[in-house]
Amino acid sequence: MRAAAQLFPLLSLVGQVLGESFDANINYGSPSRRHAGLGLDVPLIERRFVKRDDRTYDPKELNFTHGVASGDPYPNSVILWTRIAPSLKSDESNVVVSGTAPLYNHDTEPYIKASKNPICVEYKVYSDKEARRVVDKGKAYTTSDIDYTLKVEAKNLRPFTKYWYQFNVCGTDIKSPLGRTKTSPNENDSGKDIKLAVFSCSNYPNGYFNAYGNVARKDNVDYVVHLGDYIYETKKGKLGTDERATDPPNAIFTLYDYRTRHGQYRSDLDLRATHEQFPWIPVWDDHEIANNGYRDGMSALNNTEESFLNHGGISVDQRKMNAVRAYFEWMPIRQVDMDDNLRIWRSFQLGKTMDLIMLDTRNYDRSITDLGWNADYIDLIGNDAARTLMGSHQENWFYNQLSKSQKRGATWRVIGNQLVFSRGARVVDGKLTMAGDNWNGYLSNRNRTFKHWYDNDIGNNIMLAGDSHKNWVSDLVWLDEHPYDPATGEGSVGVEFAGTAVSSTGYGGTLATADETAESWVTQNAEMHWIEGYYRGYFELHVSPKEAVARYYGCPTVATRNAWEIPLANFTVKAGANRLSRPLAGGNVEAGYLSDGTITHTNLTLNTETGEWKEIGFEQMFIQY
Ligand SMILES: *[C@@H]1O[C@H](CO)[C@@H](O)[C@H](O)[C@H]1NC(C)=O
Ligand SMILES: *[C@@H]1O[C@H](CO)[C@@H](O)[C@H](O)[C@H]1NC(C)=O
Ligand SMILES: *[C@@H]1O[C@H](CO)[C@@H](O)[C@H](O)[C@H]1NC(C)=O
Ligand SMILES: *[C@@H]1O[C@H](CO)[C@@H](O)[C@H](O)[C@H]1NC(C)=O
Ligand SMILES: *[C@@H]1O[C@H](CO)[C@@H](O)[C@H](O)[C@H]1NC(C)=O
Ligand SMILES: *[C@@H]1O[C@H](CO)[C@@H](O)[C@H](O)[C@H]1NC(C)=O
Repeated sequence: MRAAAQLFPLLSLVGQVLGESFDANINYGSPSRRHAGLGLDVPLIERRFVKRDDRTYDPKELNFTHGVASGDPYPNSVILWTRIAPSLKSDESNVVVSGTAPLYNHDTEPYIKASKNPICVEYKVYSDKEARRVVDKGKAYTTSDIDYTLKVEAKNLRPFTKYWYQFNVCGTDIKSPLGRTKTSPNENDSGKDIKLAVFSCSNYPNGYFNAYGNVARKDNVDYVVHLGDYIYETKKGKLGTDERATDPPNAIFTLYDYRTRHGQYRSDLDLRATHEQFPWIPVWDDHEIANNGYRDGMSALNNTEESFLNHGGISVDQRKMNAVRAYFEWMPIRQVDMDDNLRIWRSFQLGKTMDLIMLDTRNYDRSITDLGWNADYIDLIGNDAARTLMGSHQENWFYNQLSKSQKRGATWRVIGNQLVFSRGARVVDGKLTMAGDNWNGYLSNRNRTFKHWYDNDIGNNIMLAGDSHKNWVSDLVWLDEHPYDPATGEGSVGVEFAGTAVSSTGYGGTLATADETAESWVTQNAEMHWIEGYYRGYFELHVSPKEAVARYYGCPTVATRNAWEIPLANFTVKAGANRLSRPLAGGNVEAGYLSDGTITHTNLTLNTETGEWKEIGFEQMFIQY
């Protein structure tokens, strides 16, 4: 804006007025405000509007298309999100304007259709759900350049407090749904109990998002943590025939593709309800971009001329950039470093009770992974000291965060990470197997993490993981380096709670065969104490200064949209104990395999809508087509 102002003083007057509101929409800055080539040339967009004729949208043409969302809570502020778009008919009347971004037309291929008209949106934040007392408000613009998304920061809020918020088209009565959110505690607040719902792996065509709906209906948590695979890039089903077929119908590569896929997911009512009710703290895993990614490739796209030509002229980096841009547009998160467009690793101080450290073990700067065709090679190099899962920049930040957290006297260090951290080695057909795409393929990075915990005497660590589509509960122990007693948990530095998928496939088969598979994993890994891979679902993590409790819940089926939920197991960790409390899970779980205790299939299921309990068993777990 400054350069433009020097050249065109008159223009800058209008620009300043507009400019303020353009800046208010954070999405104009993502993924890189400073490097226009990577993101948007905002001064150019502003100049475009200065030159426009005066036609703006008839408010009647506009709709809040995907509800509202909030996220990344701080003590005094939170991110608010919505999307407002013109109906397709009026959109067609807009001219195509070229910019630094690629262009698209809505019906076909990788072109952004730039609309001439900015849409003005006001937002208000209320301290009451009747929406009477306004505590913050503002105004921002959106355009097709950012897929009509709108992301603002609500400010002047009080810590650990619930707020309600709503958007409207400027000067009109056209309103979004009313959302609810909550700020984080002040960093020095002690004695706070924090409740999280932890999700991962929500594959839209694979099943209904009942797990999201259950958490919204129960309304029992403060924040939602999503550990990634929030969308999937793959294709499934036939649009128009199969109810949850993917849109677009192809595997996604272009910016248009990624935006459309995000839009499809956010049209799911259960997902939308969870966004409207809780602030989210998400990180991506591989599928927000593409399966089994690393810094230079993905399992289904090589960084080679052949692959480039076979995939419509989209390179690995360009595909990643398209995915990242759509992610920042659609997710209610902060971009904590505007000079680092790939960075989503960040942390939250949730009072003195805990620090929540969110990692990117997937896309940031990861050494080569198992891409399917190179599994033997990854087996060979998995123990190389030079390998890194997180990249040195993030790794150093991570270790620093752990130390800082200990120093400031936070009781717990909860680490939101994608991949199962515990070893999980298993002999299959006489051969020791460890999947190379998770921490097992990056032993040196895991060792350095353990070393930092042990050497600095940092305890009360809780690793969270998704990615695997199964529930795993383990003590955190550096086997072969530190003595460990599986009976008591002595020798461990914390625990790991890994969750099953919202709807992605687990062990498959029957409840009985899934229990058997779980048993073979648990019995071959001393530090693993419960595994369960039949049910889809999520877990809640209740963290207080005295203890942390993980409550696991399953959805008996995701083949239909329903409100049924089955409690699977509860695990407690006492502050200072650094291991799971014994007897494990109070001695009994609903399914899977417990290293020491009983498994009872009660099939006792709660309807989260009616409150009814019923012994129920469903025949079919997933949508089949
Ligand atoms: C806006 O959404 C409502 C409800 O879905 C729909 O009835 C109406 O046709 C939409 N308006 C436009 C202009 O698309
Ligand atoms: C928290 O306490 C520390 C140490 O007393 C202090 O430096 C810091 O400013 C406090 N933070 C807030 C938000 O009050
Ligand atoms: C990537 O390259 C490897 C090695 O040449 C090959 O086996 C694999 O099929 C290629 N993958 C794609 C998606 O082109
Ligand atoms: C990591 O630690 C394990 C267990 O002590 C050891 O076997 C392995 O060689 C170590 N690898 C690296 C790269 O440090
Ligand atoms: C876990 O604890 C909750 C709350 O007390 C309870 O409702 C649930 O039934 C428990 N789950 C199991 C499997 O015991
Ligand atoms: C319990 O549920 C499982 C899985 O849904 C089912 O296979 C089994 O038949 C059910 N058992 C009873 C007694 O209903």
